Amino acid sequence: MRQGNLATYRQRLLSAAEGRILEIGVGSGHNFRYYSERANHVIGLDPSPKLLSMARETIRSQAFPFPVELLQASAEAIPLRSGSLDTVVTTWTLCTIPNVTSALAEMCRVLKPDGRFLFVEHGLSPDPAVRRWQDRLTPIWKRISGGCHLNRAISQLVQDAAHRPDRNGLHEGSKANNVYVRRLCPSRIAAMI
Ligand SMILES: C[S@@+](CC[C@H](N)C(=O)[O-])C[C@H]1O[C@@H](n2cnc3c(N)ncnc32)[C@H](O)[C@@H]1O
Repeated sequence: MRQGNLATYRQRLLSAAEGRILEIGVGSGHNFRYYSERANHVIGLDPSPKLLSMARETIRSQAFPFPVELLQASAEAIPLRSGSLDTVVTTWTLCTIPNVTSALAEMCRVLKPDGRFLFVEHGLSPDPAVRRWQDRLTPIWKRISGGCHLNRAISQLVQDAAHRPDRNGLHEGSKANNVYVRRLCPSRIAAMI
């Protein structure tokens, strides 16, 4: 995903990331160059050993002004503590993760209560004619494109994740045994779809 016309999106999104950042689906580490001086620590997660070795090469060949750590893992099971991150980032990745609902729940879990989820993704078209083609093409497309779904309603999935009850079925603001429930999912979601 190195097309020049995507650089503007990357620049705008990633310059807003700050603090301790988790980038899901880090791939070859192409995004590292776009983080600002407000990035204190970047953790890049990806299940692909091949892409992670390319990311390692990106880190080796360019001097980034923040520490970068790489994790070989899947977004459906993020091996990080709950509430430990200021920013979670995805760029053109939610289309590919097999269980995107579990992955979004995991992203909510690891974010601090005032953390931010920043994403730029492609998703389901609002135009019914285009949507029909997205549905028709997805079964073939995902086989030749590493699992990419053209027809995921990404903004809806993200909204649902932000408002989903926690594991005990409790919504933000509800009370159970006098314990006030605060969802870990961010109230601030920056979307570029
Ligand atoms: C289309 S690439 C995008 C790469 C990069 N984010 C970019 O903007 O160029 C999709 C990425 O999602 C990663 N991916 C696939 N399944 C994943 C999963 N279960 N958890 C996290 N990342 C996953 C792939 O390995 C790949 O790096």
